[in-house]
Amino acid sequence: MTQSQATTAGVDRQAFRARVLGALDAARRRSLALTDCLSDAELVAQHSPLMSPMVWDLAHVGNVEEIHLVRQIGGREPIRPDLDGIYDALEHPRPERPRLPLLEPREARRYIAEVRAQAADALADADLDEAATRELLAFVAQHEQQHDETMLITHQMRRGEAVLDAPRPEAAGPGPPTEVPVPGGAFSMGTSTDQWALDNEGPEHWVEVAPFRIDAAPVTCGDFQAFIDDGGYDDPRWWSPDGWRLRLESRLHAPLFWHREDGRWTRRRFGRTEPVPAETPVVHVSWYEADAYARWAGRRLPTEAEWEKAARWDGATGETRRNPWGGDAAGTDRANLGQSHLEPAPAGSYPGGEAPCGARQMLGDVWEWTTSDFGGYPGFRPFPSPEYSAVFFNGRYKVLRGGSFGTHPDACRATFRNWDFPARRQIFSGFRTVRDAT
Ligand code: AVJ
Ligand code: FE
Repeated sequence: MTQSQATTAGVDRQAFRARVLGALDAARRRSLALTDCLSDAELVAQHSPLMSPMVWDLAHVGNVEEIHLVRQIGGREPIRPDLDGIYDALEHPRPERPRLPLLEPREARRYIAEVRAQAADALADADLDEAATRELLAFVAQHEQQHDETMLITHQMRRGEAVLDAPRPEAAGPGPPTEVPVPGGAFSMGTSTDQWALDNEGPEHWVEVAPFRIDAAPVTCGDFQAFIDDGGYDDPRWWSPDGWRLRLESRLHAPLFWHREDGRWTRRRFGRTEPVPAETPVVHVSWYEADAYARWAGRRLPTEAEWEKAARWDGATGETRRNPWGGDAAGTDRANLGQSHLEPAPAGSYPGGEAPCGARQMLGDVWEWTTSDFGGYPGFRPFPSPEYSAVFFNGRYKVLRGGSFGTHPDACRATFRNWDFPARRQIFSGFRTVRDAT
């Protein structure tokens, strides 16, 4: 290696270390903010069978950090090997977690602080020339970020007095057109070079996409109310067979957390009841409801490839961008991410975050359902183990894209893939629709 190459690599190493430290630190501040505001009783309680007690999430992020950063990268002695079983997500599905011998809140906080102190030492000594080490560090940092969104969902499920607050997003300026065209042709999907990408985002590969038109912003509460008012929930024509079955069994009649009072829709949001804001993206809908709405509107949900092409593909250069606006990190002027607001911003907000095709809010605000089943791209390689993604490649999960107001910007980009069962709607899920170009 020449002197100048060594220097360049050295600068990159420093930048990468700083990025990991910054992400770990931001994640921890968020984890503590989300849990310090609750009593011990509320932290050990299970607020929904769909979610863990929050004290489980807290110690679980510490356990994952201990396994990968302290033991694997740092080569240090285990701190609490006895905890590995209790905090293994696959061994213990969410419904059984309250009955596990969990660390108490005070012990959990002490444990994660001890892990972090040793992890910081391990990071300082880590060999960042090893690609696998960089990949593992990015994974551990984003893992805690992801659980911060999970804990925020638990806050939304929780009953009782409000404990979280945040300013409302600013009103949108003049909006974009209702839909924008995306030309047909091949584009490069996924990434093989992004140092921060998780296993399922690669390898990069070419995908052929037919021309289509996509909503310039996510479907709003007002749009969705029109579907409700038109009897959309009572008309099996709009629903897939599985969706109609769920509609009947679960008596679906509106997005989760919506209530009708004196002929007006209200919703409960982090412990407060408020009128449903018509101009903001609808949130807390299942894939089945999104699919039914799209059919009612004479449209359909996008495939994952269509979504990603609309979000990243720059027709002027033929290149795909990391984010809709380019390569820069998501600032607060580009996207509603990171829990600085606790709700989606009005449709058409964030002109600074517009994609080359003219679509807005592709990142942030609400996760967007796609028609695609979660699976591995050609040549997929599991990392750090099949447990992160590969065990979910079974045709039972739908892909969501784009992140929500609850997603940290470090854990979101235009290649990022989330997944869940199509019946789920406690997550911050919304959607936009497309139609074939004619
Ligand atoms: C990517 C949100 C589907 O919560 O199941 C956290 C993230 N994986 N710990 C999930 C995750 C392991 C994952 N999602
Ligand atoms: Fe986890």
